[in-house]
Amino acid sequence: MSELAIFGGPKSRTAAYPEWPVWDERDVQAVTEVIRSGRWGGFPYPGPKTAELAKKFSELQGGGFSVPMINGTVTMEVALRAAGIGWGDEVIVPAYTFQATATAPMAAGAIPVIVDIDPKTYCIDVRAAEKAITPKSKAIIPVHLGSNMADMDAIMELAEKFSLIVLEDCAHAHGAKWCGQGAGTIGHFGSFSLQSSKTLSSGEGGILLCRTPELAARAASIIDCGRPHALGGGAEDPNGFAVQGTNYRLSELQAALALAGIERFPAQAKQREEMALYMDEALSEIPGVRVLKHDERHTTRSFYRYVFAIDPHQFGMEHDLLCSALDAEGINCWIGYEAMNNYELFQPQTSTLAVPNAFPEYFKFNEMNLPEAARACEHEAVWLDENIFRAGAKGVDDAVAAIKKIQKNAKELSADAK
Ligand SMILES: Cc1ncc(COP(=O)(O)O)c(C=O)c1O
Repeated sequence: MSELAIFGGPKSRTAAYPEWPVWDERDVQAVTEVIRSGRWGGFPYPGPKTAELAKKFSELQGGGFSVPMINGTVTMEVALRAAGIGWGDEVIVPAYTFQATATAPMAAGAIPVIVDIDPKTYCIDVRAAEKAITPKSKAIIPVHLGSNMADMDAIMELAEKFSLIVLEDCAHAHGAKWCGQGAGTIGHFGSFSLQSSKTLSSGEGGILLCRTPELAARAASIIDCGRPHALGGGAEDPNGFAVQGTNYRLSELQAALALAGIERFPAQAKQREEMALYMDEALSEIPGVRVLKHDERHTTRSFYRYVFAIDPHQFGMEHDLLCSALDAEGINCWIGYEAMNNYELFQPQTSTLAVPNAFPEYFKFNEMNLPEAARACEHEAVWLDENIFRAGAKGVDDAVAAIKKIQKNAKELSADAK
């Protein structure tokens, strides 16, 4: 019989990894309390739970003025609009990320200019970003991807040189710190998602961290149908209702869930961080596995998924084969996003979005040179679920044993894939 679970052999991990989201009676009570209060959402915004969430989230990240909203996509659209960025402006984004990093600027009318990633971290390549700058460049969105942070020192330097707004996409980086400073508090804005799979969740939701009370007031006004706001203790937005607003308000029920999650978050993040170090050491001994660079300035490593790379030639197979075999072994994993230039959504021929159709010259994907993103997305990257890191050393040991077992049986797997 084959050793591999994918061919009917014994699984490397039979016990299920811990479930996500984690919840207990505190969540039930928190939501029940909101239901009984009769204040489920609406305005004046924010309601009491949402205001408490804003305060607690800024405390968690160690700064910034929080504006909760309905998800971690509109947070980015709103940030750009609050900064006055819109139709025809260019916003630099990395080629390796969830599509929201590019659709959000488009929703504001701006053009996402896609640049390659740094293979050492899979985050934006700052030199590639610099080469992409034109007089129309207004903002840059570094994504703290998977388990890494973008080089925020280099990004802030670049932003200063070219007067760019920096919007950190922190959908994967709740609790992470760079040189002791919280993700999302280094740039002008930090955008966080509270969607179900994220490490702080309210089912759906998002929080925009703003550097100044004025930016926060403007963002709050945009998401609250244009009403004037004085969030974060700043002055009321002098534009008041003149701001073109919409309704992106978070409900009180969701805020209550996120508040319950915040209490558990530090212990979960600490456990993940400790086990990530343990995983780094174990993986670095496997031939053909490349542990992504952990920059020493990334002082608190709080993460969404643990990402590593394989060299398919040396490891003995492509990443998709490894992931299918790992799944069968009981190790939850994913090959990650496709490179941005492969997203149908942005091709002018197939897109229903206004921006690719209005500016087709920016979306000539065949002419783009994004080799590092292509390598990561098509051959190398492996994303391990966060729950592996909440299952103690045994959780990590089982995952590592599975990777070794699969590599040992690479020939059998590759022969079957042919
Ligand atoms: C990198 C990244 N940015 C933005 C988002 C968007 O967040 P949301 O799903 O809350 O809109 C996600 C979420 O999946 C993400 O992974």
